[in-house]
Amino acid sequence: MDSLPPSPGDIARLVQPGRVHRAAYIDPAIFDLEMRLIFGRAWLYLCHESQVAEPGSFFTTVMGREPVIVSRDRGGALHVLFNRCTHRGAKLATDETGTAKRFVCCYHGWAFELDGKLAEVPLPEGYGGMPGADGSLDLVRVPRVATYRGFIFASRAKEGPSLSDWLGPIASSFDDMVDRAPGGVLEVAGGVSRHAYDGNWKLVIENHNDTLHPRFVHASSVAAARDQSDAVHSDGAGEVQIKQMRQNGAPAHVWEALGIWTTEWGHSFMGDYHTDARMAARGEEDPVEREYREALEKTHGAERAREIMGVTRFNSIVYPNLSFMSRFRQLRVVQPVSVNRTVVVTYTFRMPLAPERMFRDSIAFANVVNGAGSLVLTDDLETYARVQDGLASQGGDWVDVQRGLGGDQDEANGMLRGQTGTSEIHLRAQFAAWQRWMTP
Ligand code: FES
Ligand code: FE
Repeated sequence: MDSLPPSPGDIARLVQPGRVHRAAYIDPAIFDLEMRLIFGRAWLYLCHESQVAEPGSFFTTVMGREPVIVSRDRGGALHVLFNRCTHRGAKLATDETGTAKRFVCCYHGWAFELDGKLAEVPLPEGYGGMPGADGSLDLVRVPRVATYRGFIFASRAKEGPSLSDWLGPIASSFDDMVDRAPGGVLEVAGGVSRHAYDGNWKLVIENHNDTLHPRFVHASSVAAARDQSDAVHSDGAGEVQIKQMRQNGAPAHVWEALGIWTTEWGHSFMGDYHTDARMAARGEEDPVEREYREALEKTHGAERAREIMGVTRFNSIVYPNLSFMSRFRQLRVVQPVSVNRTVVVTYTFRMPLAPERMFRDSIAFANVVNGAGSLVLTDDLETYARVQDGLASQGGDWVDVQRGLGGDQDEANGMLRGQTGTSEIHLRAQFAAWQRWMTP
């Protein structure tokens, strides 16, 4: 590849109207800069409050390449701490989640409270008494932590836009997810699914609102699902999966009409393409759906419940590390590993006050869209690897993102809407944010 040293001037040249230089995907020096300037400064989604609900509970994750601990102390306060012992640097907590009285380092036994305070040092007389009484050996805190409706974010930058300013109108996707839960109660449940692919982290964040690809990338699973007889009944999971696979084969006019919206800072969401057309046409309501609607009406009243159920939103992307499906209660966290390797961790949410059958359906849905053995997800992962391979070749320097360029429409609420549902407006919004972060 023609080498483009990542100075701010060069970075500015990588993003042009309707195209992006392939260096953004394949240059390890640019990846290092992204980890510093984007993942080192932007708000990153860490976890949901239900994952650290109890005093003494903790959750470990990464912010870019930095390991961190989210903990809830005995008084109930939330903390986000770098997962690094202040003695000689060992990572402290290695379980993904759990409860602890203290974090005790595996190397020389230094012990820290859940709020990061150094509590105990074995054989303190070697220091002439307990070291770090002034707090200088406490765990280092991630500078900014904030939550929105139970979703926990943190930023490694001391300064920057507040979480609510940065989320802007994409906050409404979290509202959609929480408001859909009777009583407003949501919890992560059903375990975690994790997969990795051989490609740059941006590929998955770009793909989730790419409404042009399903007919092609997922053609084989669409065909298999169409071949499947409706008369074959499983415990319910099979029907959920077949329905989703068939819907990926929606005709072009459905995708074109969907709608895709972007916000400042690169966030976006797309309309929903799922229909329960056959039942609706017969004027029928599924019994589980009815029970759910009634539970929702208890929380919100009939009119508001109807409004909430009428929201048609599928994937929402919170740039750079989160993608979620508010209606289907699926959430995916993107963890860049290197310029051409990415891990995606996926969670399903349960609505404890909704019919239990809905949670089973959510798990079935998760297995078809997010599970590593899914017939759908595997197509996407193969595609990311092919893109990464192609971009590393000498066959051209530019990635084309001009679909719908010039047709973006201003919406009253500070969002832009793509000319059609298959516009690449979300890619342009992501790269505008990318350029803003990368050229401080
Ligand atoms: Fe943690 Fe020594 S490195 S106690
Ligand atoms: Fe896909």
